[in-house]
Amino acid sequence: MPSFTAAAPGKIILFGEHAVVYGQPAIAVPVEQVKARAVVEADPRSKSGSVRLFAPDIDLDTTLDQLVESHPLAAAVMQVQAACGIQHLPACRIKITSTIPVASGLGSGAAVSVALIRALSGFLGFALTQEQVCALAYDVEKIHHGTPSGIDNTVITYAQPVYFVRGEPIHVLSPAQDFSMVIGDTGIASPTIDAVKDVRQAWEENRALYDEYFESLGSIVQAARKIIEIESVESLGPLMKASHDILQKMGVSAPALDCLVAAALDAGAWGAKLSGGGRGGNMIALTSPQLTARVGRALEQAGAVRTIITEIKASHRVH
Ligand code: PMV
Repeated sequence: MPSFTAAAPGKIILFGEHAVVYGQPAIAVPVEQVKARAVVEADPRSKSGSVRLFAPDIDLDTTLDQLVESHPLAAAVMQVQAACGIQHLPACRIKITSTIPVASGLGSGAAVSVALIRALSGFLGFALTQEQVCALAYDVEKIHHGTPSGIDNTVITYAQPVYFVRGEPIHVLSPAQDFSMVIGDTGIASPTIDAVKDVRQAWEENRALYDEYFESLGSIVQAARKIIEIESVESLGPLMKASHDILQKMGVSAPALDCLVAAALDAGAWGAKLSGGGRGGNMIALTSPQLTARVGRALEQAGAVRTIITEIKASHRVH
């Protein structure tokens, strides 16, 4: 059996995080500069059914039967096994590596799932559709996030900018022009599941206020979609700041995020906001291509442990 390799990119949410869990739209884009990779190869010396999982980045070297079923890697393997209708897996070794920082809003969990699902199904001789890969990754996401909207597995599976509404088929976004973003990492690991839980609790305690926040974030997404598809992206700047301010009121920002947002704006970014679950993790800044390096330096001076410059490419619209 030949070995099989698959990779999946990271992602950032441009607009709509948290509100997307409550049915509002959101926009996310892939980040190709960071990737998760899975390699599956036959292990002829081991007995049938032996699945070795090796993930050096997280010091994991074990076999499938040693992991609890709810472990995301075990869950991904079992999802593939069920989807392919295979009762006994052939003996194999699965190696997972990733350059995507964990628990920082860059979609590392979903990217590992997508890469693993693709590599294992390919190794087993099944060509799953994008839709199937996305659905299996979503089931694994539920273990990471509790009540995920599905945006991470969607943008990462399709590796294209998406306008996403929970439960609806994917809408691929076609940016009218290229645009540059600088991603700044606070270095504070912040599990999304905790931020999502806290927002739910706050919403339960004050539904009217939080519904208003979610609606405002949803309206910003609608406006942002139009700008991305037909106008100059510079006009996204004020929408980013407005989103950040609402997320801050919702209690999902953090001093480190506010500080990086301010530093990016001071350095000339058109707009900046936290991205993803918040409380730590990453923020994003939208800049002209000429200013990315300057904004990146300003973020590092303000305490970012890592910056990534990424470009979202214009695409030809398909009607
Ligand atoms: O994985 P993160 O941290 O980018 O967060 C996902 C975005 C949330 O809206 C906070 C949660 C969700 O499931 O959509």
